Amino acid sequence: MVEFQPAARVREMPPNHWGAMDREILRLSSEPGPQMIDVSKGNPDLPTPEHIVAAMQHEVADAQNHRYPSYAGRAAFREAVAHRYREDHGVTVDPDGEVAVFHGSHEAIMASVLAMTDPGQAVVLPDPGYPMYASATALAGGHIVPLPLDEPHHQPRFAALDGLDEAAVLLLNYPNNPTGALARRSTFEGAGEFARRTGAVFVHDFAYSSLGFDGRAPLSALAVDPGLEVTVEAQTLSKTYSMAGWRIGFAVGNPSVIAAMRRYQAQAFSTMFGASQEAAAAALAGDQSAARALVDVYRRRRDLVVEGLRAIGWDAESPEGTFFVWVRLPGEEDATEFAARLREEARVAVAPGDGFGPRGRGHIRIGLVSDEQALHEMIERLDAFTRRN
Ligand SMILES: Cc1ncc(COP(=O)(O)O)c(C=O)c1O
Repeated sequence: MVEFQPAARVREMPPNHWGAMDREILRLSSEPGPQMIDVSKGNPDLPTPEHIVAAMQHEVADAQNHRYPSYAGRAAFREAVAHRYREDHGVTVDPDGEVAVFHGSHEAIMASVLAMTDPGQAVVLPDPGYPMYASATALAGGHIVPLPLDEPHHQPRFAALDGLDEAAVLLLNYPNNPTGALARRSTFEGAGEFARRTGAVFVHDFAYSSLGFDGRAPLSALAVDPGLEVTVEAQTLSKTYSMAGWRIGFAVGNPSVIAAMRRYQAQAFSTMFGASQEAAAAALAGDQSAARALVDVYRRRRDLVVEGLRAIGWDAESPEGTFFVWVRLPGEEDATEFAARLREEARVAVAPGDGFGPRGRGHIRIGLVSDEQALHEMIERLDAFTRRN
């Protein structure tokens, strides 16, 4: 059998930091000993609300949905997106020209970078940041310009970009993965100024759009750029409605960018299952009480984990949103090695911060995607681990 070499664009993609860790988790899980508590991912553990599942079941039985869907996406889905923007953010968007539908926000973000970046152009990415932004930039042949997120609130230090006169894309993400920070209005104002100065599109990844705690609703970047002058925002149903497996997302914003993303999508990914789109419309246009109740579930888990970690002497930040807790390790501890020891000795799998960029070093991320019993057990194991070490 011939062993083929992949093309350069695949060979040169950044390493998948979590691939090796996943294999390790699988290996350890098959060994005798306590079951692994895996909080390394952002994979929601709760089921999709019943009324959305029922809508999907109904739509799957409709033979109209068994045919190829249109490239434009279903009107009901795009109108439901526009409805949510009006209700939640006071922003008016045209469902025809300013909304595009995707198989998850991963694809929407990929499409935004691939559609707008020529080889050699600068793509500004947050550090720390969600790893797929670097992969998208590599696929587009762009070069990464890191934008440091400064503590205490993990907002971008735009002054670091003063020498940069041209860029294709600026990508930000709030509520922020991995730090849990919410955006300040000045952050989106700064992003708009940078975009206007350099000709960049400001792409805001709003994956955790519903997950703000303590009465703070996450700010949409479109609320700060209601004229859609330079901004496109990507959203997903994965987190708000626990629909990660369904692969449904969308993008909203500047119509010329949305048109370019759609052109790219039509060739690269084709279309989306009509039944998924109708179910998405049901989720977005329907009763939001399940989505609101979910925020409380994650808030309770956050309090349990942050208080528990602090009680055993760990330096855990209390996130303002998302379902992640960002923890600073003591001293010069190497996060990858620390995470490996936690897996081996405590049977707890966490995400090492290095995978999110240089400024993630010395940190780990804990996902609040296990029930309270498992999270209690996790704290007990971390306590025992700390006492032993
Ligand atoms: C910050 C961020 N953006 C985008 C995504 C992609 O989500 P999806 O493709 O499920 O919409 C995730 C998923 O974990 C995420 O954490």
